[in-house]
Order: sequence, then structure tokens, then C-alpha cells
Amino acid sequence: MLASRRNFLMGAAALSAAVITPETVRAMAAMQASADWALATADLEADLPPRAMRLVHGRAPEGLTGTLFRNGPGKFRRPGGSATHWFDGDGLMRAFRVNDGRVGLEARFADTPKRRWESELDAVVTPGFGTAGDDRARVGSNDDANAANTAVMVAGDEVWALWEGGSPLAMSASDLSTKRFVSLRDDLKGMPFQAHPRYDPDGTIWNIGLNGDKAVVWRLNADRSLHTAQVVDLPRASFMHDFTATARHLILVLQPWVFDHRGMPYASQFAWRPELGTQVLVVDKADLSRRRIYELPAFSYFHLGDAWEDASGTIRFDVAAGKDVAFAVDGARVLVEQRGVVPGEPAVLKLITLHTDGRAEMASSGMTAEFPKSDPRRAGLPRRLTVHVSGERADRPLPTGLATWDWDSGRADAFSFGDTQIVEEAVIVPRGADETDAWLVAPSINLAEGVTELHAFDAARVADGPVATWRADVALPAGFHGVWAG
Ligand SMILES: [Fe+2]
Repeated sequence: MLASRRNFLMGAAALSAAVITPETVRAMAAMQASADWALATADLEADLPPRAMRLVHGRAPEGLTGTLFRNGPGKFRRPGGSATHWFDGDGLMRAFRVNDGRVGLEARFADTPKRRWESELDAVVTPGFGTAGDDRARVGSNDDANAANTAVMVAGDEVWALWEGGSPLAMSASDLSTKRFVSLRDDLKGMPFQAHPRYDPDGTIWNIGLNGDKAVVWRLNADRSLHTAQVVDLPRASFMHDFTATARHLILVLQPWVFDHRGMPYASQFAWRPELGTQVLVVDKADLSRRRIYELPAFSYFHLGDAWEDASGTIRFDVAAGKDVAFAVDGARVLVEQRGVVPGEPAVLKLITLHTDGRAEMASSGMTAEFPKSDPRRAGLPRRLTVHVSGERADRPLPTGLATWDWDSGRADAFSFGDTQIVEEAVIVPRGADETDAWLVAPSINLAEGVTELHAFDAARVADGPVATWRADVALPAGFHGVWAG
């Protein structure tokens, strides 16, 4: 009889059932082997010194020079207790430095008070989005719990590691060393500054920070100094990871995942109440007291695309819309367990239209999508193209491909690596005037080779696959968000 390894181990375990040997224990563990996507949430044990990536496919695009900074959790597990949710690992800043066809990679952890204290204890003890923490936590202010693990913005010779519930953490753009938490004004120290700032063409930056049914609206000048910070009332206290903007308006989407009771971890405070529907708050950038509220059927989301407004005042923006919060609550927890079925259905790219007569509607592209992005030069302005990761399935988490969706033609241009790659968010590096005249630069984890790769796609021909692929000698865990500094 040809026995599979699994059957053989089962048989061996049965034969020795009376005596639980170390071999039996190891055999049982082998049967619960990590999922093939487990590298996405692996721990990196130390900073990654600079190293070269090797060109393994295609030709380096001429003129592509700049740095892709990316942030995301890089360390979850410690002997005395671990993060139990994907959103709670220690922030790891990566820099993919592209220069005249050559690519270098380095990564350093955000040196936060949380990471310092937990390194000393060798235990994750700080409450987070989905991690309860324990009474060893030292949290006197928002930034004591700041994981600095979600996104990044460039600020001169610094990069700011962004989180959701506290301040930006300034790191050196040249060597990724941690400098300090950023206080935009003394009396606003530690105030939430979320992970998804929006950029006006003139360089003005908008961002929000949430506190129950109030939001602070941050307005920064192009040089990253504070212009104003104003508090606005929200129609409900709901979990909001992202917002969007047109040239004239801020758009806050209030999903029916609403505050229910105080508690830790943070996400446990919210209840999914689909009967409430989703509300969209539109606020005038020039006068934050001028507002309209639209009503839509219930959907969940993390990420919105840039919004635009036509001459009639009709507003459009895309959303990676979900059915419920199963992934946010349970899926992202199972990702860190690295085995088993990950709950939650993939999000779908949809377009929301807000009419001037108060009607709101939602149209589906039918495409599985996350991390919707668009030409940075058109932020807040009319556009047709959305870039997104694709290929996530209900039976397998995480994206396996990259795609563009054209809202004018209703056409997708998509490439899939298959299940051997986990594809991360792409940045758009414009070449010429048209939206498709651009490079799309995205890393992936090559699961078959056990390494991180960087790919450059031609935005006009995504389906052809990457025009160039560089490979590192190491795998970094999956990041969340990045920014290109040309
Ligand atoms: Fe995000």
C-alpha cells in the first residue's frame, strides 16, 4: 500500500497511542501544518539591513527611479503573549530603492514605546485593534499603544509611519531610523491622525482622526506643517478606517459597524447593525459646517478610492465594499494563527454616485478588489482608472494578482500570478499625460521561492504581467500601504 505521509503519521500515532512520545506530538503538529499563505504574517525577528534585489524577469523600465516606502506589521509573536490580530503587529517600514534598473531593499521596525516595552517583557501586552492585551500594558496616552504599522507619508527627509489612533511617527527616509512622534500643535499631542491622508493637487493634505461621533479634520500645508485642525460632529459613531475627497468636498462613509459599548480590544466596541444602512457625509472643505448626508444600503469597507465631482456637482468615488465585518473581526485573527479557513468574503470594487438631488446609488464592477488607487495627479479630479489588487477568494485569503478597472469602458485589465504569490498594494508612477501611461510598482511574496519580490507593470498592459521582477533573498511579511517618492 502506498501510504501518504499524513496516513503514515496517523498510523504511527495510533500504534503508539498508549505512549505519547515527542515524535507523536511532532507528528500531530505536522498534521496541522501552516497554511501555504502563512508567510504573509510571519515574524521578522530583527531589522533587515540593506541588500540588493536581483532582476529575475524582464527588463528594468528606463527612467524608473525612486523609493517605494511601505509599512505593515512585521512581528506578532512573543513567548509571553502574542498579537492575535493582523492589525496589531509591530510596524515595519520597508524601503524598496529603485535606481537606474537596480533595486535595494531594507526594513526597520518603528521603535515605538509599545515595541520597546514588549521587547523588554518578551510579551505582547498592549491592547490594540483586535488584541486584548493584559494588565502589564503601560498605556498613559494614545501613543503608548501606537503600533505605527499601517501606512506612510513622506515629509521632507522623513517618512511618517501612520497608525489609526495616535500620532505619526517620524523616521529617517535615508536609513529608516526612528526619530520622534510628530506633534502638529502642542495642544493636539497624541490626537488620532489616521492612516489615509488625501492630497490636493496644490499639495494640501487632509486627514481625519476619530473619537466616537466626532472627528478631527486635519488640514496640513504642502510642507507638512499644520494649517488647521477642526472638530466636526458625525451622524453616528462608526468604525471608519478611510475617507475620501474631491477638489471641493471631504467624504466620510459611515458603515453600520457602530459603537456599542466600551471595551478592549478596540474592535470589540463595535456592533454590526446592517439594518441601519450606510451613511455618506459630504463636507465642504471651505466651510466644514456645510454638509449633506446620503443614505445607502449596508456595506462594510476599509478602503475608498479618490473621489471626483463633475460640473453638475455629482460626486463619484469607488469603494472596496464587503458584505459584513467577518474578515475584520475573525478573518484577520485567523491570518495570524496561520492555519485554517479565514472567515470573510473578498471585497468587490463598486462605484458610489452622489447626485445633487440627494439620491445615492452604487454600481458594481463585479471585480474582487482591495486597495483601490488612482493616478496621484488626479486626486480629487475626474478620472476613469482604478488600480487594485485582485484574486482573493472566499476559500483562500489575500490577493494573487493586480488589475485596473476602467469606469468609462467597464473593462478590466488583470493579471494573476496564481496561488504561488501574495500581491501587495501597488503604487502608480506616472510616465506621461494619460492615466494608463504609468508604471504600477507592487511587491509580492513569492510563496514557492519563499522570498519577497518587486514587480513593475505597464499600466496600459497589466494582463501581460510584470515587465520586470526583482527578487530579494528573504521574505518579508505582507505590508499594508505604501507611497512612492520619486
Ligand atoms: Fe488601510
